[in-house]
Amino acid sequence: MTDSSVREFQVERRDLTNFRVVERPSTPLADGEIRLGVDAFAFTANNITYGAAGDFLGYWQFFPAADNADNTWGILPVWGFADVVESTVDSVPVGDRLYGYFPPATSVVMVATEVSNSKLIDGSAHRQKLPPLYNRYQRVSNQEGYDKTHDDVTSLLAPLHLTSFCLVDQLEQNGFYGATQVVVASASSKTSLGTAFGLSEHADSPRIIGLTSERNRAFVEGVGLYDHVVTYDTIADTLAAEATVVIDMAGNPAVTSSLANHLGDALARYIAVGITHWDELAGSTEHPRPQIEVEQFFAPGYIVKRITTMDMGEFDRTSRSFVQRAALATSQWMTVQHEDGLDGLAGVYGAVVAGEFAPSAGLIIQLAE
Ligand SMILES: NC(=O)c1ccc[n+]([C@@H]2O[C@H](COP(=O)([O-])OP(=O)(O)OC[C@H]3O[C@@H](n4cnc5c(N)ncnc54)[C@H](OP(=O)(O)O)[C@@H]3O)[C@@H](O)[C@H]2O)c1
Repeated sequence: MTDSSVREFQVERRDLTNFRVVERPSTPLADGEIRLGVDAFAFTANNITYGAAGDFLGYWQFFPAADNADNTWGILPVWGFADVVESTVDSVPVGDRLYGYFPPATSVVMVATEVSNSKLIDGSAHRQKLPPLYNRYQRVSNQEGYDKTHDDVTSLLAPLHLTSFCLVDQLEQNGFYGATQVVVASASSKTSLGTAFGLSEHADSPRIIGLTSERNRAFVEGVGLYDHVVTYDTIADTLAAEATVVIDMAGNPAVTSSLANHLGDALARYIAVGITHWDELAGSTEHPRPQIEVEQFFAPGYIVKRITTMDMGEFDRTSRSFVQRAALATSQWMTVQHEDGLDGLAGVYGAVVAGEFAPSAGLIIQLAE
């Protein structure tokens, strides 16, 4: 690859198991644009979900794929860090480091707007109708106390644990919906573990039940954040049929049916958050939908609504403090695994998309040397 080319990791929109790495020439910058060299990013089931929900939530639109006339291919956005390598904007000089939403690509061009000391917004035309929180970048080089050694954990956990914070906040605001237990499905996922951690901090939390696969049962039991662990195929036998909130990261229609049938009227609230079991959802068009009310939870939407009742500064302070505590708890069980470049991502992608990647691992793709 030369400096004047870009390599990007693309997936097939209708078959997320298929991928390719495309190299294309980079384009000269126009006034107002900056070029970012992507340094490193995290890769988890969350990124696969961006693809599974790509059509109806617009995730394919953040970073249009190159060499893609018939729209077969798409780019899964990732969370990570990038450095400004070329700039036409005086206030955002070369060397500035940003944290935020990037393509899994060696570089990306953005339009730097609303630049302040701590943040900027990518004002690219094609991103304007997308949720604004994803278009905001933190200028970490200007952040007091910024420590690069924390970047991996930030990329891996900050977006997921911010969601955990919001979920726990919603439950607390609603008196836990009167439930005596909270069932967290896909309990081995990082978002679930952050949620279990947040619930475990509350003296008046209902019992926290981890719902997972047989493959990940021992891991989920071992982290010690759940009061009780149930596997998908033992719901009817081992889950108490008492007042329950379900927080669902799995999005597996068969699991939803089992829970709805078993809990019946004891189901106080069903909150759909994720689709880690994206392949079960994709292959289940004929599965009968259970007759329950399901709340679709979307963290960026929750935050926009919550800061109308909670001061923005207070939201930032309390959520940041939560994310730090949850990261500390996560360090007890998560090991960061580095892979080298987009070829490194290609080597592990199959395991991530199939759900075969160890839940104890936090995958970081390192692009720059
Ligand atoms: N709505 C929102 O605003 C929001 C915000 C953040 C995250 N989320 C969602 O929360 C979910 C969790 O994300 P994460 O990054 O925390 O996940 P993660 O840590 O990468 O979770 C990995 C776990 O997901 C399950 N899994 C993954 N792929 C699978 C497959 N193909 N088949 C079966 N099981 C599979 C397995 O858990 P089990 O064996 O325990 O099922 C696996 O251990 C994602 O769907 C994400 O998009 C939603």
